[in-house]
Amino acid sequence: MTKYEEVAGKIETAIKTGVYQPGDRLPGLRKLKDQFGVSLSTVLEATHLLEDRGRIEARPRSGFYVRNDPLTNTLPPSMSDPPKRPLPVSGQDLALGLAQATAEQGMVNLGAAIPDVKFLPEQGLRRSMIKMLNQSSQWIVPYAIPPGRIELRRQISRKMNEIGCAADPEQIVITNGCQEAFTLGLQAVAQKGDTIAIESPCFYGVLQVISSLGMKALEIPTDPKEGISLPALEMAVDKWPVKALLLVTNFSNPLGHLMPDEKKKELLVLLGKRNIPLIEDDIYGDLGFGQHRPRPARAFDKNNMVVYCSSFSKTIAPALRLGWIDAGRYHQQVINQKFISNLATPSLSQLAVADYLQGGGYDRHLRQVRESYFRQMNAMSQMIAKSFPEGTKLTRPEGGFTLWVGLPEGVDSIVLFQKAYEQKISVAPGPIFSSSQKYRNFLRLSCAYGDRVKMERAVIILGQIVGKLHSQPDLHSTL
Ligand SMILES: Cc1ncc(COP(=O)(O)O)c(C=O)c1O
Repeated sequence: MTKYEEVAGKIETAIKTGVYQPGDRLPGLRKLKDQFGVSLSTVLEATHLLEDRGRIEARPRSGFYVRNDPLTNTLPPSMSDPPKRPLPVSGQDLALGLAQATAEQGMVNLGAAIPDVKFLPEQGLRRSMIKMLNQSSQWIVPYAIPPGRIELRRQISRKMNEIGCAADPEQIVITNGCQEAFTLGLQAVAQKGDTIAIESPCFYGVLQVISSLGMKALEIPTDPKEGISLPALEMAVDKWPVKALLLVTNFSNPLGHLMPDEKKKELLVLLGKRNIPLIEDDIYGDLGFGQHRPRPARAFDKNNMVVYCSSFSKTIAPALRLGWIDAGRYHQQVINQKFISNLATPSLSQLAVADYLQGGGYDRHLRQVRESYFRQMNAMSQMIAKSFPEGTKLTRPEGGFTLWVGLPEGVDSIVLFQKAYEQKISVAPGPIFSSSQKYRNFLRLSCAYGDRVKMERAVIILGQIVGKLHSQPDLHSTL
């Protein structure tokens, strides 16, 4: 963290804790300089950062003032309340429609959680791709038979060790993205007809995979700030024959919650007593806004019961289809199943990403992109708070790039999806995040759209549509 980010962080904490209230004038630049013992230019950079983050505003010849935060009037959604029994997954057809709509020319994509190229390390990746292409094709043409290329597994192993997850390259299996990783995890620990506990709302890819494997989903009440409710989970696993729990512990999609370390440890104790494996999806773990990269539950796993899954889809490039799984005691099963499913993951992607990671630019890229997502999320949250009608609820994630929006009573997010589509804006309606099509008046928005001005304009239009639907609650979807 740079000096000016540190100073900005301290001022921000003073604002959050109420030392400076909305409308208050901050001390002058020279006073701040003396207070923090830094140079004037550092203080100036810190104030620019806070302006960018929407915390303060400059007034001509008068100094910096704490901005009114429209979010103070927008409550976060409460703990979710899903059906209390295992269910086969239904109603997922809309998810493919959403993915296809997102790819249409001219669409402002706030629907799919796909980062704009602007937020990806395009140049570094291109350099590594070209370098690999120019090397002998003896490396690129053959299958990279599972577990995959050692060069990449070595880099991933380093990354995992840095976040407290001791993992030899031999333990890691390269997959076609995180979705294949957790599919292989599920196939290793459970069978057709088995029940899998999941957070609620939940990434729709998880629901689709559970459905395609003929398994049932048991949704567990989930808090938008700290994740799954442990008392509710305990009751559920004591009542139903749960074969595994599948969770995103760090900055989940769509809620964005971050499970505290102590809670991760308690979760492992609860599961350990019942010998239930945890399939942990850590795809957003590198994208936190705080000072420290949160540890995955896998870092606290003493009993070898966590199957760890992740990918580079949110940080380097989704189309590379590069993920990995450290399946612990299920390692050999996962290798066999990966080989049966699709033989191998493309060698070129693996070698290029290994080279990119080896080059050392990844950490710098992450620092930049985390700051960008923080700003994007802040801009979108402020705009929702200003443009959506009263009664709207909104999460406050500390990482990732998705927001979960609770719409006022009676507004149907599938109708909103259709109306927004007519205006060339894609949004993700709530029901696709549940096995039982709950969350009809919820919406997920992605903040990773490259053009901030267009993104904000789209949110204003969405607010207008929601306003209209709110005043005509009889409108129902044709889907
Ligand atoms: C929580 C979560 N897991 C997995 C995936 C899929 O990742 P991949 O593209 O690496 O398969 C996504 C994509 O949106 C996601 O949000």
